[in-house]
Amino acid sequence: MREQLEQIKASALREIGACGSLKALDALRVNYLGKKGQLTAILKQMGKLSAEERPAMGQLANDVRKELEEALAARQEALRETELAARLEEERLDVTMPGRAKKTGGLHPLSLVTNDLIDIFQSMGFDVVDGPEVETDHYLFEALNLPKDHPARAMQDTFYLGENLLLRSQTSSAQIRVMEQRKPPIRMVCPGRVFRADEVDATHSPVFHQMEGLVVDKGVTMCDLKGCLEQFVHEIYGPETQVRFRPSFFPFTEPSVEVDITCSECGGKGCRICKGTGWIEILGAGMVHPNVLRGCGIDPEVYSGFAFGVGLDRLAITRSKISDIRLLFENDLRFLEQFN
Ligand code: DAH
Repeated sequence: MREQLEQIKASALREIGACGSLKALDALRVNYLGKKGQLTAILKQMGKLSAEERPAMGQLANDVRKELEEALAARQEALRETELAARLEEERLDVTMPGRAKKTGGLHPLSLVTNDLIDIFQSMGFDVVDGPEVETDHYLFEALNLPKDHPARAMQDTFYLGENLLLRSQTSSAQIRVMEQRKPPIRMVCPGRVFRADEVDATHSPVFHQMEGLVVDKGVTMCDLKGCLEQFVHEIYGPETQVRFRPSFFPFTEPSVEVDITCSECGGKGCRICKGTGWIEILGAGMVHPNVLRGCGIDPEVYSGFAFGVGLDRLAITRSKISDIRLLFENDLRFLEQFN
């Protein structure tokens, strides 16, 4: 029995010393000291010894047990430390590493300019309305004082989808939809996409954007139109920008004007952008034609109004000094990210 004990002790100490993980160490503990362990098995045989042998053997067995327990504890401590060190090494944070930037989206320059305009006009009491991109002849032309044989129809090379259906070539159709539904006072803007059969170049696109504005009330005059448009130009381009009204023609307004602003590139001296004139045209406007009001059931003897249609792409381009309208539609991230 003494020999057995010595053997168990020797092999246990060797295995404990060589043990490489806490899990394996636990298995060793069970193997030697557990209920069914090797040392326990020996202790169970104590009863078979003679009374003289028993105390010495008992003493030895206890010593071996103690020694093994101490060896296990020491090994456990050492393994804990190395495992912790390994984990710390593995999970180490290098606080000097550059962070991973979070990429957030940004708004398209067209959306930015549209939102700014909406803010400006809302602050002046305008509602924002929406209108369909596929329109009927009635809303796009007829009700806007452009009968079938009117030569001004040729001004807009419209995409027809059928005899009476077409892609809207101007947001002005929204005026009619609003006036048919509401009674004055009316103050609304309608931003949206419009379509014309234009060749693509640096300043033209078959798809572009407009914002229509309409005010109808008692006693509305051309002065209100001027004040309103000057206010919006100054908010978008700064107070030093000058506004010029030029007589023009639109079938749905009388009188009609085109509105120019001093070139944002050269400040009015004349440059490539303004083709040497110092001025850039940004919108068409006028006093709503009595025929248009009458057609919508609004008495032109009682009410008057002004309307305007501003090209949003032109606005985005001049404000952000973008050289080519095509950049707005190509979705090149290198271009778009500059507006974030
Ligand atoms: N619809 C015109 C265009 O696309 C712009 C315009 C001019 C709108 C005069 C208006 C207006 O409301 O009164 O060229």
